[in-house]
Amino acid sequence: MVSHGKARKDASNPWKFAILRAVSSLFLQVCRGQSVVRPPVWMMRQAGRYLPEYRELRSRYDFLTLCKTPELAAEVTLQPIRRFRMDAAILFADILLPLEAMGAELRFVKGDGPCFPDPIRCREDLGRLHRPEVEATLGYVFKALREVRRELDEATPVLGFAGTPWTLAAYLVEGGISKHHAHLLSWSYRDEAGLRELLDRIADVSIEYLQGQIDAGAQALQLFDTWGGLLDAERWQRLARPSVLRILEGIGDQVPVIFYLRGGAHLLPVLGELPVTGLSVDWRQPLDEVRRIVGPKMVLQGNLDPAALLGTPEEIRRQTHDLLRRGRSSADGDVGFQGHIVNLGHGILPMTPLKNAGAFIEAVQHADEIFT
Ligand code: CP3
Repeated sequence: MVSHGKARKDASNPWKFAILRAVSSLFLQVCRGQSVVRPPVWMMRQAGRYLPEYRELRSRYDFLTLCKTPELAAEVTLQPIRRFRMDAAILFADILLPLEAMGAELRFVKGDGPCFPDPIRCREDLGRLHRPEVEATLGYVFKALREVRRELDEATPVLGFAGTPWTLAAYLVEGGISKHHAHLLSWSYRDEAGLRELLDRIADVSIEYLQGQIDAGAQALQLFDTWGGLLDAERWQRLARPSVLRILEGIGDQVPVIFYLRGGAHLLPVLGELPVTGLSVDWRQPLDEVRRIVGPKMVLQGNLDPAALLGTPEEIRRQTHDLLRRGRSSADGDVGFQGHIVNLGHGILPMTPLKNAGAFIEAVQHADEIFT
């Protein structure tokens, strides 16, 4: 069993649990720069296919129906929290939903992932997108968030999120998952101003969308820049960063913001300068090295290799302890537990055994016993 928290079943509704905890939020404490008894832990894609209870619901509803039905989205958001007591819940939705609201048809095709049948590939195509009424088109997300917030106590904040405009464009321009991103990169070299117009339009919708999430109870936000690593540092700064800054300026400092980047070790010196609370990094670089590059102020989130959860529980514990140790190190030596939110370097893989996910979470929940 885990060290913090206990669940109480609500007799009136077997799906609902009130989650009671005596501690205040470790996640928000770390975001505020405070030292904690142990680091907070959650997992990207923690609501998803590795959970039998998710697969059960998914056998009855397609993915977009789950996202668009607030009661179901709230239920899926809470599933991993009930099972593992992570220190943060992340809203069940998808980064691509605002693009659908802008008029791009979106489908999720079994085995192929997301698909935009009519991709946007040049300046002329921008006419097919419009500025949506955010409450009318994405209000289901805000409803789900309110529902989740009602179910969780103060120890478990709920995170909202959005994709960065560059990463959303990577799907909208390609029409789905892509190997070479040839259409996106071609547009970027052919007509940079046209592509930046698309990114700015996405940014403006994202500001309203994220504000709606904050108003509905999101206590922190994560921005996913899954494809930022396609660009070299100079091009990332010129192409991708302005629309990120536009979003950050638009939402201000109402809640902590964490910026996730995959495959972006070469961008760390630039990312270290972003006006965000934290950086979430993938597993390709040890966390103490990341710390040396970005300096002492930035909160770091990550960065166990999701594939490590396919090994044995003993090896997972060993690797998690190593990660915890690296998370404590700074230029001044061991700084204790501060500035580190434990997570994976990318989403948990669907084939991950439950006991392995549990071994990871519990190793962090018991960190105070190991580092005394
Ligand atoms: O638990 C959570 O993390 C919250 C919900 C969440 C999902 N997607 C649910 C999901 C979040 C935060 C995302 C973000 C997301 N979506 C990203 C950024 C993070 C990353 O993974 O890099 C991206 C790029 C997407 C777009 C997307 N959605 C892809 C490429 C796919 C298909 C690939 C895959 O993993 O299947 C999805 C589908 C998706 N989003 C699923 C889930 C649970 C699987 C859908 C299913 O049940 O079939």
